[in-house]
Amino acid sequence: MNGPALVLERSEADDRAEFRQAVLTGLARTPRAIPAKFLYDARGSALFDQICELPEYYLTRTETGILRQCVAELAVLAGPGCALVEFGSGSSVKSRLLLEGLRDLSAYVPIDISRQHLDATAARLRRDYPGLNVQPVCADYMALTELPAEVNGAPRLGFFPGSTIGNLEPAEATAFLRRARLLLGPTGALVMGVDLKKDPRRLHDAYNDSAGVTAEFTLNLLRRMNRELEANFDLSGFAHEAFYNAAEGRIEIYFKSLHPQTVTVAGRSFAFAQGERVHTEYSYKYDDAGISALARSGGFSIDRTWTDPARLFAVTYLEAAP
Ligand code: TRP
Repeated sequence: MNGPALVLERSEADDRAEFRQAVLTGLARTPRAIPAKFLYDARGSALFDQICELPEYYLTRTETGILRQCVAELAVLAGPGCALVEFGSGSSVKSRLLLEGLRDLSAYVPIDISRQHLDATAARLRRDYPGLNVQPVCADYMALTELPAEVNGAPRLGFFPGSTIGNLEPAEATAFLRRARLLLGPTGALVMGVDLKKDPRRLHDAYNDSAGVTAEFTLNLLRRMNRELEANFDLSGFAHEAFYNAAEGRIEIYFKSLHPQTVTVAGRSFAFAQGERVHTEYSYKYDDAGISALARSGGFSIDRTWTDPARLFAVTYLEAAP
């Protein structure tokens, strides 16, 4: 089988060095933080797929329902012959709705940082959609500056589902949209899923599921540090913590030390006080005005927004602003 059309990913040794550097820097600063992208190793990605199925985690099923409802309208807005470009394709479950609903696609360009995920997804899609031109790109989409030459000339439709935009801080979210705007070009459009502000209890529960899968997902980062960075985190000495910060309009996710302890990571020692936290992720929640402001700041304007009847989640169609 042929590999990705474009590989901007480095070797495993480079990845390991980047992880090590990010962790050592993140644990040395105050407050402590480790970038969320490191949550998604093979096990982390599998746990995330499980999160998407949890009863409390309404986001995935709500967004999927909205996409089912709006895909026919999307097809009309996007017009024929588009190249569909997905930012962070993972296992591409939602993309199938678009691949089936947007007929006459000239290509599908899944972009993902995980080579394993990307290769498996591309193979499955080529099998299931024999006529589809699949052009995978292995890259960190926050750093991508070009698309495969095979999609030159086609109008580009970006796809950024899952409220992943909410995992970026506002300035990064704007930077992402500007980059997407350049990649997609002046005739481009972007379909983006955004989680909406709502009852804080509902938000809290989505990140504190009763089965403990989200906790396992957060603590998997400790396992990964133990394995890849010769760290010695005691998994029973740390806990997942997630809560809604209403003033900032975001869920904040941490792992927290349950008692005073010292941990070694890549040969360095880090002391943790009881209750001391390491930040791993934000998940910003938006309202209509916030989505419009964000779109504008990134060089897009909102052409259309669809929501579910309970207004839990929004799917927006953004057009490149002139
Ligand atoms: N985009 C997802 C969200 O913001 C990512 C996510 C879901 C997540 N559950 C999580 C990230 C738990 C960290 C921990 O909802």
